[in-house]
Amino acid sequence: MKYFTTTSKVSRRAVDCVIVGVYDGGKLGIGAMDIDAASKGVIRNLIKSGDISGKPGKCTMLRAVPGVRAARVAVAGLGKTGKFDAAQFRKAISAAASALADTKAKQVLNCLTLEPVADCDPYYLARHTVECVATTLYRFNQMKSGRKKTRSPLNSIGLAIAKPGDARKAMRGAEHAGGIIAGMSLARDLGNLPSNVCTPAYLARTAKKMASSNGKLTTRILNEAEMKRLGMGSLLSVTAGSVEPAKLIVMQYKGAGRDKPVVLVGKGVTFDTGGISLKPGPEMDEMKFDMCGAASVIGTMLAVCKIKLPINLTVVVPAVENMPSATATKPGDIVTSMSGKTIEVLNTDAEGRLILCDALTYARRFKPAAIIDVATLTGACIVALGHHRSAIMANDDDLRDELFAAGNRSADIGWPMPLGEQYEDQLQSNFADMANIGGPGGGSITAGCFLGKFTHGMHWAHLDIAGVAWKSGSEKGASGRPVPMLTEFLLSRAGALP
Ligand code: BES
Ligand code: MN
Ligand code: ZN
Repeated sequence: MKYFTTTSKVSRRAVDCVIVGVYDGGKLGIGAMDIDAASKGVIRNLIKSGDISGKPGKCTMLRAVPGVRAARVAVAGLGKTGKFDAAQFRKAISAAASALADTKAKQVLNCLTLEPVADCDPYYLARHTVECVATTLYRFNQMKSGRKKTRSPLNSIGLAIAKPGDARKAMRGAEHAGGIIAGMSLARDLGNLPSNVCTPAYLARTAKKMASSNGKLTTRILNEAEMKRLGMGSLLSVTAGSVEPAKLIVMQYKGAGRDKPVVLVGKGVTFDTGGISLKPGPEMDEMKFDMCGAASVIGTMLAVCKIKLPINLTVVVPAVENMPSATATKPGDIVTSMSGKTIEVLNTDAEGRLILCDALTYARRFKPAAIIDVATLTGACIVALGHHRSAIMANDDDLRDELFAAGNRSADIGWPMPLGEQYEDQLQSNFADMANIGGPGGGSITAGCFLGKFTHGMHWAHLDIAGVAWKSGSEKGASGRPVPMLTEFLLSRAGALP
């Protein structure tokens, strides 16, 4: 994708499509005003006739507007005047991109970047534009046979700016967004692939390939024998029932010399049947998405490589399949984690924490500046926060606030949840150092507390993405979240934001 900025009049640009907007109530945006004047009232007339609506999420595609050099004009609804914020801006761009998806337009020029948007500068307007267009145009059809639907030929996104001085910021925003969408698309592809294709070995191969095309990145894969030597009895107990070999994927990106790295740990359960504590049948197919934490940290690594961020980043992915079989771990079995702590596995479906605790212990060797694990960890998280926000838990309030703020700026939102001794006590076991479940009540928090037992002395945060990693129903598919939040966090740490 190519990006450009322009200060010239919208009606004078000979591109395949321009995006302009009208507010609810009929007020024209800046670009729409220009188009209306050049075409002697086409937009106002269509508002009068009810063919153009200012409602958010609506978009009308006009063709061959007289007096306008662009082939198409997408008129997006901007909602109420005075309430145009980043969320409304993104809604408008996404609606325009949906309309664009049905055309053969190669270039698009976004003129909504000329509108005043609450709390957004040219950098973020450019980022939101590129991210929303690419997210909307994303398609997953690699598993369909025959003549596959062609992808949109869009290859150039322009950003209208008010003054030449904004060009640098807007271009930087577009380029950062380019990295983020590459990371999101990879994360979505990995999530959408079925578990018979996207196995732990497939994730490992993907990580290896990334390193072969980037000089600053190295990838190492540990096999089960190596994990056994390290004492990862907890992780290995989850893969005990599967014939797919487990992998521990370690990716190291060095962009800042000898600085301590940020470490991202992603849950990579390529399919979660629940094990002997078998899950019920309905929607079990969606448990192919139980590696979306892994996909998001690998995707974030790709974004960081593309942006060439001056930061050190390490990604650790424990990748396993959770299956029932004659060799599977059984409820009540006691396993020894790499930390030496013993765990009573009261429910084999609480497997995410069992692989993450050993990955967190392993990650200590990198002396992380901060360590963040990302996991589709609990159904309880969906009960608590629905499908809009990731849960953010941490043993460090500053780190938690940093992630919360990064989520807000990148429109990939989270919400803080507590940890604490009262909840931790729910994990007591009569037979081992701890149980792997905390009983009814606060299921996301007790899962977080379990991980917290393995992170003392580290600045640690935990993202439960169970509600946001994918969509169900007719729009079923991986979302690529929280790649934007994580990349924003790293952009900020690297001092790369304007
Ligand atoms: N992968 C699931 C969590 C999940 C379920 C995410 C549904 C998204 C949608 C996780 O491994 C799991 O099974 N958790 C259990 C924990 C319980 C046994 C304490 C759960 O949430 O039911
Ligand atoms: Mn499970
Ligand atoms: Zn799971």
